[in-house]
Amino acid sequence: MYKEIIDNILNDAKEVLNNNWKDGFTIPTEKLYPFQWNWDSGFVSLGWMHLNMAQAMNEIDLLFSGQWENGMLPHIIFHSENETTYFPNHDFWESEVNIGSPIKPRTSGITQPPVHGFVLEKIFEKGRNIEVVRNFVKKMFPKIRNLHRFFYDYRDPLKEGLIFIYHPWESGRDNSPLWDESMQRIEIDKLKIPTYVRKDTDHTEASERPTQDKYDRFVYILELGKKYKYENSEIFEESPFLIQDSMFNAILIKSNDSLIHLGKELKFDTGEIEEWHTQSVHSYAQKLWSPNLNFYTCYDMSGDCLIPYREVGGLASLYANVPDKKRSTILNDYLINLHKRGFYLCPSFDPDSDLFDSRRYWRGPIWPQINWLVNHGLMVYGFNDTADIVKNDLLEIVQNLGYYEYFESDKDKVSRLTQGYGGANFSWTASTVIDFLHYEN
Ligand code: GLC
Repeated sequence: MYKEIIDNILNDAKEVLNNNWKDGFTIPTEKLYPFQWNWDSGFVSLGWMHLNMAQAMNEIDLLFSGQWENGMLPHIIFHSENETTYFPNHDFWESEVNIGSPIKPRTSGITQPPVHGFVLEKIFEKGRNIEVVRNFVKKMFPKIRNLHRFFYDYRDPLKEGLIFIYHPWESGRDNSPLWDESMQRIEIDKLKIPTYVRKDTDHTEASERPTQDKYDRFVYILELGKKYKYENSEIFEESPFLIQDSMFNAILIKSNDSLIHLGKELKFDTGEIEEWHTQSVHSYAQKLWSPNLNFYTCYDMSGDCLIPYREVGGLASLYANVPDKKRSTILNDYLINLHKRGFYLCPSFDPDSDLFDSRRYWRGPIWPQINWLVNHGLMVYGFNDTADIVKNDLLEIVQNLGYYEYFESDKDKVSRLTQGYGGANFSWTASTVIDFLHYEN
């Protein structure tokens, strides 16, 4: 790309991040998501590190101010208790039912994909000769290891090396068709769900958001967590939704790998992490590969079956370096095929499935941070041409439609659109663009 175009895009991206920066941390976007979100902040610091390393480090530091005593890192950190445009807010989560949750900041009671290990490694690679950066990495290493220990201690009851999630929001792919069947299994007793008022549809199109029935189920599982003080063993006994998620586990494996590299370099003991890592890679490859689909997918622990859909979670396995050559080629071919058929890469769900919806939340559109994961995963295997398509598709779509939360994946439809979907001026869109373009300069 020409330097002038790159400079213009970078300036717009910087403005988005600066406007979303709230005294030490970055919100995803005004009103719709006005607090600090867990994996968003990980991706956001990948953008900040090119602009202002201190801010990149602060982002992660403040995120971990919400870490619980048992190591869990919540999916939302409510630094401000006066913000009222979001549901469920801190008073609905009541995280204080768990005595190990911090009094300040208030937090939610569930987690999100653990990107922090590989983010820390990226920060280290960029600033390895700067003393404050090295000190920061040394400070964060034990906190992130504690988070991983939490997963292996509390979220892996069968000791398989595969972590379960008990709420779709923990997957980061809230409304994916992956969860439909398990969510349908929930018997909703309206009387047992407290009265609540959604806020998301005040800020964005209802047709792009989860349905009301879905929302009742989200709230039902939240209440289940609260009832058990967000303690994991009782939840494991009772939750109808227990999934070993392909993306969550791939991200955890990649972050283990990063912690091992960092630990070796900075003289931390990595023995425990290496054990987790070996077992997780093995179990992932064995248990989450579906020979029928020819794809990695999620395992439904309550239904005792693989969830039979192709989607971006399976592609995240590439970044974790799990597939062998043959499987990695199958995943690459899947993307090439979609590219040739006129889709922007990477649709979040399989366009050949009846459940595909190129517009609705997580049921088909493109998500910037997912393109970042897939782009990096493809490069692990030397599929550099496909990696470039994944990167350039996102850059093109953002240039044409703006810094939205997510985007239409069908090229034909995109040509008739003037904007993306969901929230505008979105932080992870800006940070992904900044990180991608940084390597073009
Ligand atoms: C939505 C997304 C989730 C993200 C959050 C804030 O809930 O599904 O992945 O972290 O928004 O951007």
